[in-house]
Amino acid sequence: MIKIVFFDSKEYDIASFLKVMDKNTFECKFLEAKLTLDTVDLAKENDVVCVFVNDTVDDKVIDKLYEYGIKLIALRCAGYNNVDVRYAFRKIHVVHVPAYSPYAVAEHAMALLLTSIRRIHKAYNRTRDFNFSLTGLAGFDLYGKTVGVIGTGKIGRVFIDICKGFGMNVIAYDKFPIADANIEYVTLDELFRKSDIISLHCPLTPDTKHMINNNAINKMKKGVVIINTSRGALIDTEALLEGIKDRIIGAACLDVYEEEADIFFEDKSGHIMDDDTLSRLLSMPNVIVTSHQAFLTNEALDNIASTTLSNIKSYFDNDGMCDNELCYHCGNIESCKKNRKQRCF
Ligand code: NAI
Repeated sequence: MIKIVFFDSKEYDIASFLKVMDKNTFECKFLEAKLTLDTVDLAKENDVVCVFVNDTVDDKVIDKLYEYGIKLIALRCAGYNNVDVRYAFRKIHVVHVPAYSPYAVAEHAMALLLTSIRRIHKAYNRTRDFNFSLTGLAGFDLYGKTVGVIGTGKIGRVFIDICKGFGMNVIAYDKFPIADANIEYVTLDELFRKSDIISLHCPLTPDTKHMINNNAINKMKKGVVIINTSRGALIDTEALLEGIKDRIIGAACLDVYEEEADIFFEDKSGHIMDDDTLSRLLSMPNVIVTSHQAFLTNEALDNIASTTLSNIKSYFDNDGMCDNELCYHCGNIESCKKNRKQRCF
């Protein structure tokens, strides 16, 4: 039996994992608590720790997990900015789910954009109150507008296809552009200057942290719409608020927030909100926030559960080898992940 402890597990995680789990192979413990240095002791006497986007897997937590004999950290998500993969190297193997539904996230990005620019959220509230006035609900056509896509990986490319379906002009920036992809790549500066809408689909790395800052916003077109379904810290939230107040940013559609860890995924209604920055964001009429729900479709949940369990089984059946390992063997996650044909360490 492979013993797995799940941190930060919600009702929908438990349902999707129980649906596909072979009870003769896996013994699972689902915990509500997030993984932190305070809760890491709950991982004792397990083989695998399964974590999500807001669990903390830093050097101190990794030391404890190593001490407790944890063999594998299995992320049930794609992004891994919350795991110190470099520190885990030669101690504990780390696997993730590289793709579970790029459509889920790209479609949510478009849903946010349409909701925002066609004022659907406002119209919904009005008509439920029998207010059928159209005053203040004027939007704009997406047809013919220029969208700048930052990051042309799996999600970015699906979002590009959706935008092309709307008759939009697409320009893109990627640090590692794809050859022959029929994508018009431009510099980041050019993207900031030319886009009516900017959508972020790159990972959070030291390189990309606060890539949307004062300097970037000052280059943007007046009225630009910013969509972030990637990671909150790609945007400097204070700079975003300033950009909104200066009327440069016409709207912000945010599924992620840089300080989301202790807030998102929880019911905080009826509580006093300590985070003044989030409160200010939510008070803006042109900001829409969803709480990291872009991934949340039935198809994505099924894929997350089955890939996570097959990653774990592959690791134990194949002497520590798994195609979805996040490897630091060559000191470069991207190239190593793509080229490695052997176990990481
Ligand atoms: P991917 O790995 O397929 O694509 C990421 C792209 O970003 C690659 O083309 C890469 O070359 C590019 N990139 C890397 N560094 C860059 C830089 N400095 N500047 C510009 N581009 C850079 O990843 P995928 O699956 O498309 O996911 C994108 C992001 O979406 C993830 O990193 C994750 O943070 C986020 N995500 C959010 C979810 C949500 O529920 N809101 C769910 C799943 C992913």
